[in-house]
Amino acid sequence: MDRSPRPIIIDTDPGQDDAVALILALASPDELDVLGITTVAGNVPLPLTTRNALAIVELCQRSDVGVFAGCDRPMERPLVTAEHVHGPTGLDGSGLGHPTLEPSKTHAVDFIIAKIQEASPARPVTLCALGPLTNVATALQTAPDIAERIDEIVMMGGGFFEGGNITPAAEFNMYVDPQAAAVVFGSGVPLVLMPLDVTHQALTSPTRIKVFRDLQTQAGMSVAGMLNFSERFDINKYGGIGAPLHDPTVLAYLLDPQLFGGKTCNVEIETSSELTMGMTVVDWWKVTERPENCLVMNTIDDGGFFDLLIKGIGRIG
Ligand code: BDR
Ligand code: CA
Repeated sequence: MDRSPRPIIIDTDPGQDDAVALILALASPDELDVLGITTVAGNVPLPLTTRNALAIVELCQRSDVGVFAGCDRPMERPLVTAEHVHGPTGLDGSGLGHPTLEPSKTHAVDFIIAKIQEASPARPVTLCALGPLTNVATALQTAPDIAERIDEIVMMGGGFFEGGNITPAAEFNMYVDPQAAAVVFGSGVPLVLMPLDVTHQALTSPTRIKVFRDLQTQAGMSVAGMLNFSERFDINKYGGIGAPLHDPTVLAYLLDPQLFGGKTCNVEIETSSELTMGMTVVDWWKVTERPENCLVMNTIDDGGFFDLLIKGIGRIG
């Protein structure tokens, strides 16, 4: 068995929870070979998601990992952003300044296509999608041959029993670019989905945030600051003790899949009705004959998940 680090590309729209996911990935070089970070418009516009990704790469002292700016708007619909959740910069609470690193001149979509095409068939690339799926879908449409070369796409998005978080029916990443999501779910690539049904079980708490702060490193303090910021909005919204930590579940799955449980089913994306636009229609009970196209998770060992995060973030100075 090949024990070399798994080659991954992280497509992201940081966002505090994206930032924590990036730190976890960059802190795990023995397990994950981050070929590059591609940015997309989502939580905040593209110039900010790109700047934020660079700030995290700099925080982790991983200037060997390139950042590639991608699509600045969804495939068909106007961009919807989430400053009301993440603050005007997208990384409010992090305490990070403007990065000195610059993004690559290569477009994210070209980078994704090239890396997938040049990978050895014995070690195919895994895509980690933490934001709207615009870059990933555009790559699949531009170079359809890459579909059969991708190891899998592991993504955060959607919700089924848990409903939506930006509309009653839709989760933010799927809602922002439902046409892109439909391309990805119809692509035939092996898919793993971390929906709200999982992430709403992965809640921060004052005790958990304190553990990050107590690391007394810049990364630990930044993570604590970002989680503290997210909590303000989410506690108000959900009425619980903490905020869901969405995107790091994708990286945690790659590092320790045993933390999660779920089943393979059919998932289709609503692209017609404005009322339910971007809804992930998950055939959990197999009431249709539609083909199974996605491993959908619905459980998480949240204690194990936070332990993994602390261990990872503790490795960054
Ligand atoms: C998703 O939307 C964004 O706000 C988060 O970064 C996460 O990817 C949660 O719905
Ligand atoms: Ca995100």
